[in-house]
Amino acid sequence: MNLPIIIQGGMGIGVSNWRLARAVSLLGQLGVVSGTGINTVIIRRLQDGDPEGDVRRAIGHFPDQDYAQEVLRLYFLPKGRESGKSYKRCSLPCIDAPLPLQRLGVLASFVEVFLAKENHAGVIGINFLEKLQTSNLSGIYGAMLAGVDYVLMGAGIPREIPGVLDKFAEQKEASLKISVIGAATPSDLRASFDPSLVFPKIMAKSLKRPKFLAIISSDTLALHLVRKATGTVEGFIIEGASAGGHNAPPRGPLQLNQLGEPIYGINDEPNLASFRKIGLPFWLAGTFGSPEKVQQALDLGAAGVQVGTAFAFCNESGVTESLRQAVIDKWCGLEDSNLPAVFTDPLASPTGFPFKVAPLAGTLSEFSSYQARPRKCDIGHLRQPVLTSDGAIVYRCPAEPVADFIHKGGANDETLKRKCLCNALLSNIGAAQIQDDGYEELPLLTAGDDLTHLKQFLSPGKRSYSAQDVLAHLTMKTI
Ligand SMILES: Cc1cc2nc3c(=O)[nH]c(=O)nc-3n(C[C@H](O)[C@H](O)[C@H](O)COP(=O)(O)O)c2cc1C
Repeated sequence: MNLPIIIQGGMGIGVSNWRLARAVSLLGQLGVVSGTGINTVIIRRLQDGDPEGDVRRAIGHFPDQDYAQEVLRLYFLPKGRESGKSYKRCSLPCIDAPLPLQRLGVLASFVEVFLAKENHAGVIGINFLEKLQTSNLSGIYGAMLAGVDYVLMGAGIPREIPGVLDKFAEQKEASLKISVIGAATPSDLRASFDPSLVFPKIMAKSLKRPKFLAIISSDTLALHLVRKATGTVEGFIIEGASAGGHNAPPRGPLQLNQLGEPIYGINDEPNLASFRKIGLPFWLAGTFGSPEKVQQALDLGAAGVQVGTAFAFCNESGVTESLRQAVIDKWCGLEDSNLPAVFTDPLASPTGFPFKVAPLAGTLSEFSSYQARPRKCDIGHLRQPVLTSDGAIVYRCPAEPVADFIHKGGANDETLKRKCLCNALLSNIGAAQIQDDGYEELPLLTAGDDLTHLKQFLSPGKRSYSAQDVLAHLTMKTI
């Protein structure tokens, strides 16, 4: 297998967009788009007028053109939104997703992968979070329609995904077991996706089966996947707790340091000897964004590294220019000893996983801004299904309005300090919702501990850097 040394990590929502993934892929490494919340990203680009026509060009290649035109009729605004107007929303994810939502999920990930792969032969992957179970099937199918080369998935145990890829490759129906709070475990509730029902007009008999890379932090889980996954796993990304985004919780009872961050110990270190024994390729992630660390990973038997933080603030990233500049100026403008560290927040994410937060003025990292936000759940990717005592399924998110959460059987304690990542992460990429009460959603940046090392990518006198700068620097000792 011809394997990449550098995997540009999948970064949601829309941080690793098609431009970034394409730039990385054109330079011979693995570019990864984010599939998280991609339906909302695409319809917001259309409502912002799709100024360069990229989304519409990709939609023009979608294999069901009647549906493609319907999406344009519903969401495309040639002049963009009027100032102060809210974005039109699509419906919220759920187990029995209505047909229009399933179709939109397919089209949206098709568009992002199509653009990342357009007119070149480089490889492209798509990243999903296992926890977002109800939207993953349509996203995977859409990416496969566009010929995606790799599917990468973390934030859970993606045991059933390899089998889903096999089924979709034969254009067959696939389903996923859904975790439901309050239901027997394992739950017998499944979300399913049947290509012949969702897009009967798509005639392709078979699709390319992408390689599957599981993002995990322990060899126990790797072994479990090798033995019990429903199809083949082609490799692992071993992600440590210093990585940007969500982190796996520490093993054992949660202990916090003086700053209130989870304490990780020796038991959380991956057992690389065990990974080497498994024999599948693996990449190391979490502060591996330097030439020395790339070499170290190779010396340890890895095929390479997965890097996120360095790419999140390069020119091609989906993060708005003003936020990228604010980050670069703050973290590259000070003496090394004064650089503020990222905070591993045990509560911010409604998922309950620790989430890395970069402290930055004007974002929800500031407690006052967080408190001033009227709670609202209008995107819903992190809602979890709950079985009520009368047998119904309701969906709740710990960051939604507290009264709603409690009404659905949740406990007040679970809502404390939870942040609406759906809205904040869309704000990071310049797609902030303006709510009906006029409140404009604020950003919340995530980054790994490597944020304090961004300076290495800046040429003297420069205040920005490209994906090419990152790749040239990372591979200077190895290629
Ligand atoms: C802004 C940002 C967003 C991220 N979002 C995701 C995500 O949606 N899914 C995922 O599997 N990993 C996500 N990650 C983790 C990266 O894919 C990658 O594994 C990690 O950044 C590597 O460690 P590093 O940050 O030290 O380079 C994110 C990282 C960053 C910096």
